[in-house]
This record gives sequence, structure tokens and C-alpha cells, in this order.
Amino acid sequence: MREWTPPPHIATMTQISDFREIDEILRSKDFRQGSHTESRPLFADSLLLLDGPGHRERRRLENPLFDRTALMYYDHEALNPVVEKMVRDCLDEAGDDGTVTVDLVPLVRAMLHRIAATTTGIDGVDTPEATERFRRFLEDLGAAATVEWSTKDHDEVLAYGLARRAEFVEEFFGPSVERRKKLVEDFHAGRIERDDVPVDLLTLLYLHWDDAWDDEFPLREATLFLVAATQTTTHTLPHVIVHMEEWLASHPEDAGKKADPDFLRLMVNESLRLHQPAPTLLRYATAAVTLASGREVAEGERVALLFTPANRDPGVFGDDAATFNPYRGTPEVSGVRPWGLTFGGGAHVCVGRPLVTGLAKRDGQAPTEGTMMRILRALYAADVRLDPANPPVAAASSSHDMYDSMPVVLTRR
Ligand code: HEM
Repeated sequence: MREWTPPPHIATMTQISDFREIDEILRSKDFRQGSHTESRPLFADSLLLLDGPGHRERRRLENPLFDRTALMYYDHEALNPVVEKMVRDCLDEAGDDGTVTVDLVPLVRAMLHRIAATTTGIDGVDTPEATERFRRFLEDLGAAATVEWSTKDHDEVLAYGLARRAEFVEEFFGPSVERRKKLVEDFHAGRIERDDVPVDLLTLLYLHWDDAWDDEFPLREATLFLVAATQTTTHTLPHVIVHMEEWLASHPEDAGKKADPDFLRLMVNESLRLHQPAPTLLRYATAAVTLASGREVAEGERVALLFTPANRDPGVFGDDAATFNPYRGTPEVSGVRPWGLTFGGGAHVCVGRPLVTGLAKRDGQAPTEGTMMRILRALYAADVRLDPANPPVAAASSSHDMYDSMPVVLTRR
């Protein structure tokens, strides 16, 4: 497993890597969002940058995007059809021996970009060419949105991101908004039913328009959702495939469990714990605080919360916390999720998490599977395995623990 090195720009901040201290800070009302200071042109007034009552109100408005009803809708509209079709398209290319080698990184990335387009409300991301153009836009928007972490000239990264955003508006965002405005107008006028209006972020914003919002606000909120949805799961999912191979090599007794959803979920949770797409969050103290541990944080101090060491805390995850073990069981501290801090915590805890991990069966309501499980099940149904001739390539140009390429073999059954 690759070690994570904190990037230089947080060197001057107080770095905190204790699980309980981070958890307390994330839940405290005495800390506010401390990330995305330079990337405000892309994210200003978006959910991520709000604090206090304004943030609570926006969460209340947007939470239904990831409730059970919405997740069922996405399963039906995007998740299942997209995942099945894309795996089928790969298998159609299989040779006489029934196998085909594909690069998992762009494959999963394309699946997730289409799913993100559906949940955000961007039309036209439905062919490989359009998905690739959409992906490139999001890559540039993502680079500008995380400019604080960039090793390049920050003004240039931001200027380029904004120029690309204008092109994105022209090709994808503008037409999608116009269609939604018309649907919302028709719905309010009683010309169409609620069921004829899609379930996505942009539609929700235009259905509940607030006159305090400026015209560009939906673009910034959509940028947040698109970047947050696509630059995260894509990083994590390939790790599951590597861990599965390594685990089965040393635990041959589990060889028959690859297609077992319960086992697969344990693999997913453990991979999420060890590999965080957002390994550090920043917070400002709004008052002088003494944490339960006795640590003092001054008013106005900015702290960097390091998730990678925190998620390997033996006091929380057991003595073997630094290693991969799908059977480690419930964390030793009550209320801690199997993936630890990977989805954050407190007020800003990831709103899209139910889409990623699914929702358990509750009160007789059907469970939802989540993107990670759905994609992995489809891949294991095609007996996915690493290509022995071409090992995965870890990303060289990023402090993130992710892969640039992962050739895998799929088999037609
Ligand atoms: C493996 C997948 C994902 C991981 C690990 C992840 C992680 C996180 C983390 C750590 C935060 C907290 C940020 C903070 O406190 O400053 C967050 C917030 C957020 N995430 Fe995710 N995320 C994932 C997937 C998604 C998806 C699929 C979506 C949308 C469909 C999404 C949308 C958001 C949004 C909008 C926020 C801001 C929430 C708020 O500020 O209230 N994320 N995510």
C-alpha cells in the first residue's frame, strides 16, 4: 500500500492525525469549512462552502437527491443500464477464447461520469465520444476546483478552468438547464405530472428557486456535485480489485466468494477505509477550543485533518489497522462506520455517500446497492482479474493514492 505524503501547502498548518480529535473537530460548531479559498470562483455559495443555518437549509433542500426513492430512480435510469451496457460492450470485443483485456481505469471513469451526469442533470452524456468530452471538461474543472493543492501556477490553473467552464456551459450545461427550466415551467402550469420531471440536482434547484441565488449559482453547485461525484469513486474502486487478488492469493479458502455480495461489501468497506479520495480536509476554528484530548486550538487557527493515519488508528480499528482485513468487524469505537472518516463527518459529511455505498434494508423498504457494489458485481460476473502480463500503473503525478491504468481481463460466460 502506498504511503501518503502531506502536500507542502499544509506544512505550516497544525496537522491532526488522531481519529477522535478529527471526529470531534468535524462535528464541532466551533470550526468552519477551511478548504477551497482560492477556488471560490468555481464553488462560491455551494453546499460545501456554506456553514451554519445556511448550510443546514441547503442540505435539507438537497438531501432528497440521495434518499431511497431517488436512489431507486437512479438505479433504474442510470446505474443498472449504464453498467450492464458498458460491460456487455467490452465482452462483445472478446476473442475466440472468450476473453478481452480492458483498462479498468477509463472504463470505470466513463461509467461514473454517465451516472454523475444523470444525478446532476446534464444531458447528452450518452455516447463514448460525448462521455470523453464531458470527462475532459470535468478534469479541467476539477483541477481548478482543487487549485489550492496544485503544484502549477495557481492563476493559470484557475484561468484555464474558467475558460473551459465557458465551453462546458456552451456544449452541455446551457442546453440541460434550458430543458429543465421548461419542464419545471410545464409542471408548475399543470401541463405535466411530477413523474415526468427528472430527479436531479438542476431540476431540484429550478423547482425550488430562491431569489437570493444569482443566475450563475446552479453552475457552481453543479460543478461541486460533478467534481465530487467523479473524482472520488473512480479513485477508490480499482483498489478493490487489487485487494481482492492479494487477499485470495493468501486466503484460498475465500476463492468461491468473489460473487458473494456480503463478502464483496466487506472488501469495498475495507478498501474505502484504506484509500481516501479526499485524504485531508481543512477547517478554521471560529473560537478558542480545547478538545477532549486536551489539545488547544486558537481562534482563527487553520487545522489540516489527515485521514490516512487516522483511518489506521489501532485504538479504533484494532492492532492490524494498517493492513487490509475484510473480516476486521465493527470498529471498536461505537458509531464509527467501517470506512472510518473517508466520507468526512459532522455537518459536511458526504451527501452522495448513499449513492456510493447504497442504503441497507429498513422498515421493510428494499435496500439499494450503490455504485461501488453494482459496478464490482458486474465486473465479477465477467470474472474480472488483473492482467498478469500488464501490472497496474500507480499515478505518478498526484499525491493521491490512485491508479493511472489497470489492465484487467474479462471473460464472456
Ligand atoms: C468514494 C466516493 C466519495 C468519497 C470518498 C467522498 C468524500 C467526501 C468527503 C470527505 C466530504 C466532506 C468534505 C468536507 O467536509 O469538507 C464530501 C462531501 C461532499 N460530497 Fe462526497 N465523496 C464521495 C462521493 C460523492 C458523490 C458520488 C457525490 C455526489 C453525487 C458527492 C457529493 C458530495 C458533496 C456535494 C459534498 C459536500 C457536502 C457538504 O458540504 O455538506 N460525493 N465527500
